[in-house]
Amino acid sequence: MNFENLHLEVIRILSESNAERDLKLKKLCQFLSDSVPYYNWVGFYFANHETKTLHLGPYVGAETDHTVIPFGKGICGQVAESNANFVVPDVAAQDNYIACSFTVKSEIVVPLFVDGVNIGQIDIDSHVLDPFTEADERFLEFVNKEVAKLF
Ligand code: SME
Repeated sequence: MNFENLHLEVIRILSESNAERDLKLKKLCQFLSDSVPYYNWVGFYFANHETKTLHLGPYVGAETDHTVIPFGKGICGQVAESNANFVVPDVAAQDNYIACSFTVKSEIVVPLFVDGVNIGQIDIDSHVLDPFTEADERFLEFVNKEVAKLF
């Protein structure tokens, strides 16, 4: 997967002048899901630091019951506290994991920082076992740096 080829389109989607932020993020999710064969669910969660909960934002893929996730719970909740990328090659091997669908085999979560504060994350589920490499991490860090400019 050559992620460099996707950079310009990410920037273009996020800089569309007459689109609301959530619409841009939804288009971004759609673009990522369309462009990377093993990105099967792509979405954003946003943190409420007072209630210590994550809230589902724009996403594409199967509907999920997990619209609110407490900090510490699941992969997403752990990233809310650790401020670090979390790559899960095989979700079946994870203790603290919130299952959305039996079709999901792996997951990657990359935190979204605005002015050094972890305000949320991009979350990607895959139907493929162990598909994520460091290239995915670097790419999603790039995506989140661009997304951070909208806040
Ligand atoms: N699997 C996630 C829950 C969110 S869904 O993947 C959309 C987790 O363990 O945090």
